[in-house]
Amino acid sequence: MARVAKKRTPKVVFDYVAGSAVDEVAYSRSRAAFARIELNSNVLRDVSAIDTSELILGKSVDLPICFAPTGYTRLMHHVGEAAVANVAAQKNLIYALSTMGTTSPAELAQLVPGSRRWFQLYIMKNRADTLAVVKQAKENGFEALVLTVDTPVPGLRYRDNRNGLTVPPKIRLDTIFAIARKPRWWLNLFTTGKLEFAAFRGWDKSLSELADLIFDSSTTFEDITWLRSVWDGPIVIKGIQNVEDAKAVAQLGVQAIILSNHGGRQFDRGPVPLEILEEVVAAVGTKVEVYIDGAVMSGLDALGAIALGAKAVFIGRAYLYGIMANGEAGVDQIVEIMRKEFVNGMALIGCRNIEEVRTNDARIRN
Ligand code: GLV
Repeated sequence: MARVAKKRTPKVVFDYVAGSAVDEVAYSRSRAAFARIELNSNVLRDVSAIDTSELILGKSVDLPICFAPTGYTRLMHHVGEAAVANVAAQKNLIYALSTMGTTSPAELAQLVPGSRRWFQLYIMKNRADTLAVVKQAKENGFEALVLTVDTPVPGLRYRDNRNGLTVPPKIRLDTIFAIARKPRWWLNLFTTGKLEFAAFRGWDKSLSELADLIFDSSTTFEDITWLRSVWDGPIVIKGIQNVEDAKAVAQLGVQAIILSNHGGRQFDRGPVPLEILEEVVAAVGTKVEVYIDGAVMSGLDALGAIALGAKAVFIGRAYLYGIMANGEAGVDQIVEIMRKEFVNGMALIGCRNIEEVRTNDARIRN
């Protein structure tokens, strides 16, 4: 699917999705770690009926695979965020809309009223601005806030610099020629409404001004306490990368954490989230739900992470490759490929439900 995505989109777009920070070491380490998961294949267990459902924040989903928030989704394919949320709604999965989304919270709620939707947020420079964004989530039926905490400053993404995808953009002539070679992509994009950070529509701010407002490098644990006081629904903290921080945020009345290095797009030399998953679950798993993201590329990656204790996984690039390759149908296909691998894997390790997957004694090979 990634190969098709690469053919159908300009290099600047493909690189934004596929790329990560600095030397791109963190992402490749994560991929390698998923390949080292080993599960026990228990035979003669009657796996004629398999149930992949799980309770996420108290409500059942059909698969423990959620859609991570991703910025600029309409740049990947003009159908954008609503198409992904629609797949989520049809399959009883969860979709998280990004602060940097190109569809606003109100539009998403209107286009896909039946979706179980979460809203990803940053603590912005001004609390009034953060509140204005939180209000949009509240008014449009978003169930949970996902606060990203691994971005005190933006990561250094050299592919994006080279392609001119900076704030403000510095698109060179060769990038423009590369875009011109994908007429279907740009015709679709340019005939379907302005590409913008839709949650900030009408704020009358340039891209640079917005980028400056969105990330506040002075954010601390106290801001989580503040967010807790202004939002009465569930809060999910995304971007936890060690046991100490997991313990610290678990004390603050939040409901879940996402163990994540932002798909390797922020700090490029941290621990591999998958490798600390078991330790984090042991430390805080009774207080908060522990999810994981970054480099989940197959149903078996997902199954392995669940077996190691994750309550759910989030996919980002995987569904973006789907949407880039084939719009909404591509997202649908990605989920079905992953579901098939997940169910097939469960049968072959002798598990009928997610509870049994968690007792598999899975491990990561040295
Ligand atoms: C935004 O969060 C990104 O990773 O590009």
